[in-house]
Amino acid sequence: MRPYLYVTLAIFCVVLLTTNTNAYPGDLVEPHDKPFVEHYKSDKLDFLTFGDWGYEGIDPGQIYGNQSKVAMAMKNWAENYTSDFIINTGDNFYISFDGDHEGVTSINDPKWNRIWKGAYKGRLDEIVWYSVAGNHDWYGNVTAQVDYSLHIDERFFLPSTYFVRESYFGPKKTKVAWIHIDTNILFYAPTDPDRQKLILQLQQVGWDTVQTINDKLKWIEDRLAEQQDSKWIFVVGHHPLVGKCAETYYMGSLRPLFEKYRVTAYFSGHTHSLAIETAKDGQPVTYFLSGAGSKTDPPCEGNDWSEPDGTLGFLHTTLTEDKFSYEFIDATTALEPKVVYTGSLTPRP
Ligand SMILES: *[C@@H]1O[C@H](CO)[C@@H](O)[C@H](O)[C@H]1NC(C)=O
Ligand SMILES: *[C@@H]1O[C@H](CO)[C@@H](O)[C@H](O)[C@H]1NC(C)=O
Ligand SMILES: *[C@@H]1O[C@H](CO)[C@@H](O)[C@H](O)[C@H]1NC(C)=O
Repeated sequence: MRPYLYVTLAIFCVVLLTTNTNAYPGDLVEPHDKPFVEHYKSDKLDFLTFGDWGYEGIDPGQIYGNQSKVAMAMKNWAENYTSDFIINTGDNFYISFDGDHEGVTSINDPKWNRIWKGAYKGRLDEIVWYSVAGNHDWYGNVTAQVDYSLHIDERFFLPSTYFVRESYFGPKKTKVAWIHIDTNILFYAPTDPDRQKLILQLQQVGWDTVQTINDKLKWIEDRLAEQQDSKWIFVVGHHPLVGKCAETYYMGSLRPLFEKYRVTAYFSGHTHSLAIETAKDGQPVTYFLSGAGSKTDPPCEGNDWSEPDGTLGFLHTTLTEDKFSYEFIDATTALEPKVVYTGSLTPRP
């Protein structure tokens, strides 16, 4: 997107957010039903997807930290392809050193400038980051992340933990629907030790019941039903549905919903690797995993493709009227990032 378009979008978002800030005081708890609408004059949408980026530590013997390696490669991609925005799959702020805290503590936490604005430069510091919250964000103050988006800088776009966007681009005003969801309540079973780290925060917002889970699944289904006139439908959440790193607790309930409403693809992070489960006969949805923004993990088993343990990187995609092209970029070597896997998808049937 050219700069003047960004300005238009920025003004548009400011207008929307200013209007909605007072109208939706309970944004963290209550999903935001009304879509945020974006218009792009270009005949394609170009975007970069990554997650799990907020670890600023430098491992012994490294010259560049893992986060800055990915940031450098992404900046080059964003500028070369004039990317329109970032899809941020969450885990925005980790504990990076002894004495550090999870997530952020407030809208004034120095981590905002250090780990977000200070780490992503050039075009990455100009375009909007459409975000979701990961478990590490919830371990800290997730309300502060929503408030930061609403009151400090809407370029970090997280007006609620659940929200919908509609983007229109090109001469035919091709419609793309985006459903951004919080998967934390779906992923952690009551017996999961990681749930204990979330439980106080979930209780505070009244999200510790199965009723809440069912309400949120219903909300997702209602939005998917509403967006059936879209040429493309994408869902974004923190926790993966690729292969076997999927389907714990209520996560598996998403697959039949995505299939019923013909979702094109689901984007996630959480597992710190790059992987894909491709659409095939009997499994029509593509599941992307891009969670290697600053940490590394072994990939999920049962995928169709993945990078080996120790890989850092991101996903670059371009959407045109009738084709969605994707490429995974391995940025483990800061100075020589390379495309490691590519493919394409067609519009919803
Ligand atoms: C830069 O972008 C162009 C298309 O806009 C592409 O053909 C070229 O391969 C890209 N170069 C790099 C280094 O990614
Ligand atoms: C979390 O941040 C919000 C501001 O966004 C603040 O009102 C609240 O007190 C914070 N909670 C804690 C426990 O610090
Ligand atoms: C940083 O990346 C390297 C691989 O380049 C990996 O060995 C290391 O474990 C990563 N650090 C963290 C904290 O994940």
